[in-house]
Parts: sequence; structure tokens; C-alpha cells
Amino acid sequence: MDFVGARSAVLAVLRGVSAGDRSRLLHWMRTTNDFDEFMLSNNDVVLRSIAEDLRNCLPIEAMLNSEHLAIKKILEQPEPTVHVDAFLYDDDDIIDSLCEKGKMSRNYCVVCGSHKTAPLEFISHSFSLMELKFLYQYALPDLTGKILVDVGSRLGAVLFGGYLYSSASQLYGVEMNSDFCQLQEMIITKYQFTDRVKVLHSDICTQASLLQNADVVVMNNVFEYFLDRLEQARAWEFISHNMRKKGSLLVTVPSLEESISNLQGFIHPQDRESSKSYHLCQGSSFKL
Ligand SMILES: C[S@@+](CC[C@H](N)C(=O)[O-])C[C@H]1O[C@@H](n2cnc3c(N)ncnc32)[C@H](O)[C@@H]1O
Repeated sequence: MDFVGARSAVLAVLRGVSAGDRSRLLHWMRTTNDFDEFMLSNNDVVLRSIAEDLRNCLPIEAMLNSEHLAIKKILEQPEPTVHVDAFLYDDDDIIDSLCEKGKMSRNYCVVCGSHKTAPLEFISHSFSLMELKFLYQYALPDLTGKILVDVGSRLGAVLFGGYLYSSASQLYGVEMNSDFCQLQEMIITKYQFTDRVKVLHSDICTQASLLQNADVVVMNNVFEYFLDRLEQARAWEFISHNMRKKGSLLVTVPSLEESISNLQGFIHPQDRESSKSYHLCQGSSFKL
């Protein structure tokens, strides 16, 4: 069917709906996600294909045995919590089908042996596809010729999103876990991202000159689950000390204020920025 025919068919459907239901139908058309699959760009398809490749290399919980502290911290959460990686499991349908197969659960048993259940808390160690598009297409300015550093690049979602949705000249990931570095390298090679993406297997606290040259530094809940509080405070101080390029931007999730609020006694924030769940501030004015 061509465009003119399709438009007539849609209008015919709208005219055929009872007057009482027409406004419900229009509301659904304006707000539903059901059309998303028809609006995917080529870049979205590439990013979904990367997520599928990574899903095939990782256990369902997308955490590795080498992540002792992160696993311990998830087990210590006040509410039963599971890690569902939002980059790998971006699509509710995938989660639903895993739940149906008994491979994943949205609920936990509150009284052992009974049928009483309560919803599990989900956390993600990666940005979702939607968050990546928001970051590059709305939150950040044009990155032509700019250098972006993702602190704790994990699966590489920020780097691959930056390759596809921005014109940044270089996208650097710094990741201290070597297994995740290998996974990122595998994707970089397979999708031929080598001209603009580089991953360093390193602790960010050894990367002073990289931070000093960065135009954008991304920090997605990078330390809380992976370092003890003293190490977190030291890492924040190191970044604050070295992120000095004029006009540079720091993106933090959660907000800078929330990220460092748990570290009171370890660091003393001087500049308190307003609290937003998604926070972007000038790197050169970022002081702890
Ligand atoms: C929440 S994940 C961030 C994922 C990714 N940036 C994203 O947004 O999709 C945090 C990652 O930071 C890494 N990490 C934590 N502390 C680090 C440090 N000091 N240096 C380098 N990587 C670190 C962890 O190993 C983990 O893989």
C-alpha cells in the first residue's frame, strides 16, 4: 500500500470507530510505544544487533564472577534486587518472554513457600537505547571534533551510541574489568568502530591526561556498586582535579549531588548543584 492509500485507510478506521471510543483511540495513537518498531533508524538497528551479540556472550544477569563487590552490594540492598541490564534488555517483550520461560522473574516470594509475591527492584549497570539517544540527540551539544570519555565503559553502550548518534572525533572508554574490555574490543572490531572508539583497560585514577583533554566525561552510576566509599571519594577527587578543560561537560547519573551525598565524611562538596536525576554540568566549574 502506498502513502496515499495508507492515509485513507487510517482515516477510514478513525471514522469507523464509535464516537465514544474515538478519543481513546487517538489518545492511544499519541502515547503508545507500539509504533516504535516502525520508527527504528538504521543506527537503532545496529545498536540492537550489538545488544543481541552481547546478550549471547553473557549470563542473563549480565554480571561476571569477577565483580565480587558489585554482586555483594546488590545482595545487601534493603529490597530484593536483581540486575537487568537496560542496554541488553531494552525491550519489555524480551523480559516478558524470559519471565514466561522461567529464566527471569519480576517478583519474589515474600513468605517462603506461599504464593504471596512482591515486585523485585531492578537496577541496570548500562544506559538503555532510549537513554543513549536522549543523551546524544538532546542533552549534549554537537560533538563534532570533540573527545568524549566514558568512565567505566562496561559493555561499551555509551561508546557505541556515541559512534552512531554523534560526530565526536574520539570516544574513549576506561574500564577496570578486563573481561568487559575484551567484550568491547570484540564489538569494536566486528562493527568496524576502530577509527573513533578506543577502550583502555585501566583505573580512571591513572588517566589524568585523558581527563584533562576530554570535552565530555560521562559517569553513569560508575562507582557506587564497584568501589568502597574511600575509593569512591578518591576517584571523585581525581576526576574533579583533572577535568579542567575550558567548556568541558560532565554528565552524571544520578545527579552530582546525589552521587556524592553518600560520601559525606570522605569528601566535602563545595559546589552544590541542583539535584536532577540526569545531570549535566560544566567540567571546568566542577569542584568537590
Ligand atoms: C554502571 S557501569 C557503567 C556502564 C556504562 N558507562 C553505561 O553507561 O552503559 C560502571 C562500570 O564502571 C567500572 N568502574 C568502576 N570504577 C572504575 C574505575 N575506578 N576505573 C575504571 N572503571 C571503573 C565498573 O567495572 C563497571 O563496569
